[in-house]
Amino acid sequence: MKYLSNLNKKELNGKTSLLRVDLNIKSLKDHFRIDSVLPTIKYLLKNSSKVVILSHRGRPNSIDPKLSLRPIAKIISQKLKSKIKFIDSFADFNFSTRGGSAFGWKKIKKEIDSEKKVKVFVLENLRFLSGEEKNSNNLAKKLASLGDLYINDAFAVSHRKNASVFAITKHIKSYAGLLMEKEIAGLTKATKNPKQPLIVVLGGTKIDTKINIVKNLNSRTKFFLLGSSIFNEIKNPIVKNIIKNKKCLIPIDFFKRNGKFFDIGPETIVLYKKIISEANTIIWNGPVGMFEDKKYSKGTAKIASAIIRSKAFKVIGGGETANFILNNKMNKNIDLLSTGGGAMLDFLAGKKLPGIEALK
Ligand code: 3PG
Repeated sequence: MKYLSNLNKKELNGKTSLLRVDLNIKSLKDHFRIDSVLPTIKYLLKNSSKVVILSHRGRPNSIDPKLSLRPIAKIISQKLKSKIKFIDSFADFNFSTRGGSAFGWKKIKKEIDSEKKVKVFVLENLRFLSGEEKNSNNLAKKLASLGDLYINDAFAVSHRKNASVFAITKHIKSYAGLLMEKEIAGLTKATKNPKQPLIVVLGGTKIDTKINIVKNLNSRTKFFLLGSSIFNEIKNPIVKNIIKNKKCLIPIDFFKRNGKFFDIGPETIVLYKKIISEANTIIWNGPVGMFEDKKYSKGTAKIASAIIRSKAFKVIGGGETANFILNNKMNKNIDLLSTGGGAMLDFLAGKKLPGIEALK
């Protein structure tokens, strides 16, 4: 794999870098994914490269102004304290194909190449083009034509075989960005040959979707600590199988109301904290209770503080878990706070991520 960090800086000078990032955020107040890619943007600018930011947002079926990247471009501009050019000329394209005419792409290229003052460009939501999710080679070629090199810093969407993640790498020199490098290094260290004992905390709903993580990491994990929602899914045969695994610990007490389970109880907290304190590697994905409701956030808060106090190598991720950590300002002592949701789950399950494979 080629890393941007290893590329001779002279190779960036005067060039245009196409930087694929993941700006798929639900709330404009959530800056985690934006802040995570700022170091790569700054690195490219410092080395005299123009930066063309590529991203998707949401799952639009057609052009949807609510999913425009324009407001996010504004936030990036404020954070960089410099002007950004937002390119929304997809609007000129022929939407019967939703891939854009050759003329349209040439116009965009000219706009980027001729710009003297502004160094950062943000293209409109790529999922407004139907070719993006179809991994269209034609769209990939058009995107590649806009720059001199391509950098994938979008770990969080690298489990998707999309044109700007996968097919594009066939048409342009491609590198893993600084965030991508950090994500791969942290997740590899925690999963490949982890310092023992490895403890994996698996919470959140739809625990059955995490069965492949249990299968993949079983031989290297001392205990999987499961959250309270496992009891809400107990009828699911996959969940029944998870429970049979002696390494999978389920809560021994809990908060329950109207037949639904909301949080782990005090005895479980004591037990889980003890196991966590003995770990040398910890992976945490998914809150152990319905923390959105303050009444049921105690379990997640106690587990979070036990994890951050531990001296183990720590990898934490999943949208809700990362938000919990950030909202409670607990992100200081963590080796990797992953930006990945589905991508992190796939990595932990041992699946090959198309966006990463394409860079190899
Ligand atoms: C994510 O937020 O997990 C990624 O941006 C992928 O989004 P998707 O699930 O809509 O492909």
